[in-house]
Amino acid sequence: MSPGKDVVLDVEGARVQFEMDRGVARVLDDVDLSVSREEIFGIVGESGSGKSMLAASMLDAVEDPGVLSGSITYYPSPDEPVDILELSAEELRQLRWEEIAMVFQGALDSFNPTLRIGQHFQETLSAHNVDRQSGMERARELLSDLYLEPEQVLASHPHELSGGMRQRALIALALLLEPEVLVMDEPTGALDLLMQRSILSLIKKLQRKYNLTIVFISHDLPLVANLADRIGVMYAFDLVEVGTAEDVVEGARHPYTRALLKAVPNLETPYAEMQPIAGRAPDPVSVPKGCSYAERCPLADDQCLDVHPPYDDLTDEHRVACYYPEEAPAAIPLPFEDQSVERPDDPPEAAGAAPGKEGSR
Ligand SMILES: Nc1ncnc2c1ncn2[C@@H]1O[C@H](COP(=O)(O)OP(=O)(O)OP(=O)(O)O)[C@@H](O)[C@H]1O
Ligand code: SF4
Ligand SMILES: [Mg+2]
Repeated sequence: MSPGKDVVLDVEGARVQFEMDRGVARVLDDVDLSVSREEIFGIVGESGSGKSMLAASMLDAVEDPGVLSGSITYYPSPDEPVDILELSAEELRQLRWEEIAMVFQGALDSFNPTLRIGQHFQETLSAHNVDRQSGMERARELLSDLYLEPEQVLASHPHELSGGMRQRALIALALLLEPEVLVMDEPTGALDLLMQRSILSLIKKLQRKYNLTIVFISHDLPLVANLADRIGVMYAFDLVEVGTAEDVVEGARHPYTRALLKAVPNLETPYAEMQPIAGRAPDPVSVPKGCSYAERCPLADDQCLDVHPPYDDLTDEHRVACYYPEEAPAAIPLPFEDQSVERPDDPPEAAGAAPGKEGSR
């Protein structure tokens, strides 16, 4: 789906700061993002880029001593804005299960080992005053949607299930109270490759069946590219490129996105086989005043080093925080791109030099 005007979650100027001995760490840096109703929005970026901070911000769940500022607005319907940062603790608790549910990173072990899976579902229902019978019916339906045998899983203790089964039970639990939005932070991180891939088709199926909006966070670009309608690429605590999956994968214009794409031989490549990008991301205590990617970017010039690049809106849907989006394809060519399309002014022999392979999405 392409993003329409029907925004369900609007993040404006989101910033998270930590006071540290060696200075203030800005681990989320003025992020703007609108998630449209019923889309799957993927967020990718390398470790430490701020993906989990952004996810936590969406639910005002940044842990102390992190301080979140900016504005986060949830729209249960288009004319009913809810200012998430103004909610009371009790209102937030309700919102987090009933409106915007989250599967936290590393949550696979969040089941209480002494309780059966079914008790986790029952406790959630009673904590939210939901009728137990209809709630457990939904639980069974969700578990079978996720190809789990409901009675067997509900009667099991967490350790009796495989990692993949526990992960799916966790997703079912997150969806128990019929939220509009599901935020999943690295939901496949602890799973084996086969399970990672198969969980994608389950997520797509759930999205369609329950008309969910999904924010899916991963460091694994090929995985996200196979799932998301739109993708936001994070680098050094901010989104550097946002567009449809097609824009970002086949028409990437930010040098960092292109470096990420270059690091995967093709989009079916497992993340583990990606080549690292040379150089390091900035320290959150001393993010450079200019472009945060400048130190690693082959196109960096004085302006890049001096002034943080504003977004360049290439289309209504595709924005890039870079001064040179038109130059990026030639500077960072991708093996699966036909460079003759990217560089119409090139001489013919150069245009034919790229191993013109189709993108594999
Ligand atoms: N309690 C904290 N105090 C100070 N800095 C923190 C704290 N928690 C996280 N950070 C920093 O915030 C930045 C963003 O972290 P975040 O967890 O959002 O990254 P991420 O993109 O989710 O990484 P990963 O892919 O490893 O999960 C990192 O530089 C991290 O070191
Ligand atoms: S603004 Fe400059 S340094 Fe930053 S990504 Fe673009 S070209 Fe590179
Ligand atoms: Mg994370």
